[in-house]
Amino acid sequence: MSRQPVIIDCDPGHDDAIAILLALSHPQLEVKAITTVHGNQTLPKVTDNALRLLTAIGRTDIPVAAGCARPLVAAPVTAPEIHGESGLDGPNMPEPAFRPLDEHAVNTIIRILRTSDRKVTLIPTGPLTNIAAALLKAPDIMTNIEHIYLMGGAIHEGNKTPVAEFNIYVDPHAAKVVFTSGLPITMIGLDVTHQARMGEEEIARLRAMDRPVAHLVADLITFFMGTYRRVFGFDYAPLHDAVAVAQAIAPGIVATRRLHVDVETTSPLTFGQTIVDLYGVTGREPNANVGFRLDRDAFLEMLMAAIATY
Ligand code: RIB
Ligand code: CA
Repeated sequence: MSRQPVIIDCDPGHDDAIAILLALSHPQLEVKAITTVHGNQTLPKVTDNALRLLTAIGRTDIPVAAGCARPLVAAPVTAPEIHGESGLDGPNMPEPAFRPLDEHAVNTIIRILRTSDRKVTLIPTGPLTNIAAALLKAPDIMTNIEHIYLMGGAIHEGNKTPVAEFNIYVDPHAAKVVFTSGLPITMIGLDVTHQARMGEEEIARLRAMDRPVAHLVADLITFFMGTYRRVFGFDYAPLHDAVAVAQAIAPGIVATRRLHVDVETTSPLTFGQTIVDLYGVTGREPNANVGFRLDRDAFLEMLMAAIATY
């Protein structure tokens, strides 16, 4: 059976890095490119992190393209308090053994979508600036998009403000472009990703594998868990972005409901909030599969099996 072509658009970022490892290990997915976007850290830093990660796992064959360095409208926001100054603090990462494409990531996304003989799945795990820019620049690509599995937003939660999740908060205008596009979207929000809890037990399982990439993932989770303890009072690391990849691999690992999602782009108090119409009170047509519940056991086994392949 032919593999599903995917593009991962990301801002590595500890959980982005683990999402990439999951995607690259799975026989069902063919990662056509890793595109980077401002977010957890500045564009140069997240691009460097993507190159370092791929170098660490011997996958310098995967094209990396750097995209937008700032949101469509809002001022840039980064998250050093979460991911550190490098954006991937914690593990010792190798120097990149290759360079990104000379092509802007938006053009990479457009090129792949225009030339793929099979519809392409997009898995954005950072702010949606690149995806929105591609849709605005080349609306024709919509016909060759299989599905968008995005990590972002929430039904009831917020981690950047009390009601807004970081990826959407950073570029709500881009999110609005995506959610109003009419494309098939699955929204993997905080309500689900906070169920993707990795803690000491999972770190011990990874260390016991005693393989370089397993140790790398253990180092990533250890740092991320320290962040979540300090900033949010959690005693675990939620692997937000890896859940979006898991749903692309096995739709159903996250239970979803078709609901209407809108994005707040003006109110100072609720800027970046995803407004999920749980009961259909707006009468507006549902535009996304919204994640509710994660099969954590299945997710954990999928992740451990993936890491064991490196
Ligand atoms: O809110 C979680 C999201 O913000 C994740 O994608 C994480 O990597 C950060 O980008
Ligand atoms: Ca991310």
